[in-house]
Amino acid sequence: MTALLIVARFAQFASAMALFGASLFLAALAPPVLRADLAPSMRPIVTIASVAAAASAALWLLLESGEMGGGWRYAVDPTVLATVLADTGFGQVWRARLVLALILIVLAFWRAAPPAALAALSAFFLASLALVGHAAMRENAAGLFERANQALHLTAGGFWLGSLPPLLLSLRRLGDPALKGATGAALRRFSGLGHVAVAAVLVTGAINTFVILGRPPLDFSSVYQACLAAKIAMVAIMVVLALFNRYWLTPRLALDPEAEFALARNTAVEIGLGGLVLALVSAFATFEPV
Ligand code: HEM
Repeated sequence: MTALLIVARFAQFASAMALFGASLFLAALAPPVLRADLAPSMRPIVTIASVAAAASAALWLLLESGEMGGGWRYAVDPTVLATVLADTGFGQVWRARLVLALILIVLAFWRAAPPAALAALSAFFLASLALVGHAAMRENAAGLFERANQALHLTAGGFWLGSLPPLLLSLRRLGDPALKGATGAALRRFSGLGHVAVAAVLVTGAINTFVILGRPPLDFSSVYQACLAAKIAMVAIMVVLALFNRYWLTPRLALDPEAEFALARNTAVEIGLGGLVLALVSAFATFEPV
C-alpha cells in the first residue's frame, strides 16, 4: 500500500505543479500574441494534468482509508471512507481539495476559461497540500508558520518546475519573426520571477529541514536523510543549470544558433531532474523524519 501511496503522491505533486505552472505562464508571463499561439499546444498538458490531479487525489484518499482501516478492503469500504472524510483532519482538507479538483477539470476543458482563474485555483489546490503531512503536525502558532512555509515551498517549486514545459514550447517560437518579440518578453518575465521562486524554494526548503528534521541531513544510515540529501544535490544541479541558461546561453541567443538548441536541451534536463526531485520527496516524506 505504501508503494501505491508513493505513486499517488508523485502523480499529485507533478500534476498540481504542471497545472499551476502552465496556467500561470499563460496568464502572467506570455504576452497576448504568444498566449494565443501557445494555448492550443498547452491544452494536452493542462487537461491531462487536471484529470491526473483529481484521480491521484481520489487514489490518495482510498489509500489513506485503507491504511487507517488496516487493510486493502478498507480502502473501498464506504463506512471507513465516510469516517475518514468526516472525522479526520486529512478528510476535512481532502473534501475541499476534491471539490476544487472537479472545478479545475471544468476550467481546464473549457476553452473560454480565463487562464488567471485556472492559475489562482490551481495555486490553492497545490498550496493546500501543506495542510497535511509532516509540516502540518503541530497545532500552535509554530504549526501555522510551518504550514505557511510549506505552502510557499510548494507554490514556488510549482512555479519553477511547472513553467519549464511552456518555456520549452515557447523556445521553439523564437525563430518565428511574428512571435520573437513576445517570446523574448516571456523569457525575461520568467527569468525575473524565476529568481524569486528559486530563492523561495531554497529558503523554505531549509526551514522545512530545520523544523521537520532539526539538523542537516548528513546521517546517511537514515533513509529519510539520505533521500533528502539526494534531493538537495539534484536541486543544486538544477540551480547551476538554470544560472548557466540565464547568464551564459540567453545573452547568446541572438548571436549563436547553437545557444537555442542548448537552452532547449538544458530545459528538458531540468524537467527530468525536477521529476526525480518529486519522485524522491513522494517517497521519503512517507518515512519517519529521523
Ligand atoms: C525544485 C526544488 C524543490 C521542489 C520541487 C520541492 C518539492 C517538494 C514537495 C512536493 C514536497 C512535499 C510536500 C508534501 O509532502 O506535502 C517537499 C517537501 C520538503 N522539501 Fe522540497 N522541494 C524542492 C527543494 C527543496 C530543497 C532545496 C530543500 C532543502 C534545502 C527541500 C526540503 C524539503 C523538506 C525537508 C520537505 C518536507 C518533507 C517531509 O514532509 O518530511 N526541498 N518539497
